[in-house]
Amino acid sequence: MFDTKIISSSEEDIAYAAKLINSGEIVGIPTETVYGLAADATNEAAVKKIFEAKGRPQDNPLIVHLSGVEMMDGYVHDVPDIAYSLAEKFCPGPLTMVLPKKDIIPDITSAGLDTVGIRIPFHKTAREFIKACGKPIAAPSANLSGSPSPTSAQHVYNDMKGRIPAIIDGGQCGVGVESTVISFENGGIRLLRPGYISVEDLQTMGVPVFCDKGITEAVAQGEKVLSPGMKYKHYSPKANVTIIVGSLEAFTKYVAEHNGDNVYAMLYDSDAAKYPYKYMTYGDTSEEQAAQLFGVLRHADEIGAEQVYARCPSREGVGLAVYNRLLRSAGFEVIELDKGR
Ligand code: TXA
Ligand code: MG
Repeated sequence: MFDTKIISSSEEDIAYAAKLINSGEIVGIPTETVYGLAADATNEAAVKKIFEAKGRPQDNPLIVHLSGVEMMDGYVHDVPDIAYSLAEKFCPGPLTMVLPKKDIIPDITSAGLDTVGIRIPFHKTAREFIKACGKPIAAPSANLSGSPSPTSAQHVYNDMKGRIPAIIDGGQCGVGVESTVISFENGGIRLLRPGYISVEDLQTMGVPVFCDKGITEAVAQGEKVLSPGMKYKHYSPKANVTIIVGSLEAFTKYVAEHNGDNVYAMLYDSDAAKYPYKYMTYGDTSEEQAAQLFGVLRHADEIGAEQVYARCPSREGVGLAVYNRLLRSAGFEVIELDKGR
């Protein structure tokens, strides 16, 4: 058991956190997407602690975080030109590129795959921290496996209290959903997990962009998935979440018929004035919804919600990432109203 401390992002505190990493411990860190649970990616015993603290399945690989694009060639090989072009355009930023790994990355980090996801975070504290460690940093989202990802130091504390020695507080995460994960095939880009770098962004590179089927559909049990994380039930609050497609009018009528004490709607901000029952809001634009989604799902648990009916988000731009995460927290339960209209 640790007496988990929330520390600041001062140079001194970052140096303290880096010292913990270099003695084989794990630390909660801010990034622009969500908070991560960091360990030295080359230290097997330290990486093992990540899987234990999160209760994460051993076959789900970790992303390796670097402080600059120039570090990439030390950890991956056979990097296609398009990956360097993407790095130039979007890194540092919320983009993870899956590439053939070098032996310095141990099997436990890549969950036995011969590839590894590489990401260079944009968040200033994250990069200062990685530099101070002087090591590539393995970091999954810092939530308990299955829970919504953490977008504040307090969220990390709530999940990891007693399990880790320290959390660097870098404020609220600006993006709010995890990085876009891609791999490369047949001269094109394959999207494995949507994020802030959108399909539309990737299409500007002038090569084909293929979308993994698991992004908007349930993956059948035993079916092979390219991104192992896609097959798990994810981002789930305790409440049952249902996505409702249709007008606010139809939505309101549906809830009226299924209402109860611990039933809450999850609305667009602009719906609230016209909605008569209990609700939470998660923003209007896709960017706002990305930034607020996980906090709202966590809030649902705090207020004891048992059923959440969510207004369906747009699937354009970063909206696809919002839809993808909400769909998983809903266990793929989507109800379509207004059919034929
Ligand atoms: O924004 C983010 O990416 C955050 C912050 C902390 O950087 N990290 C994060 O890590 O979301 P995690 O472990 O929660 O999600 C990593 C995802 C999983 O779905 C995993 O299966 C996939 O990336 N992934 C990692 N390495 C992979 C690989 N070699 N091949 C295919 N998918 C991989
Ligand atoms: Mg995660």
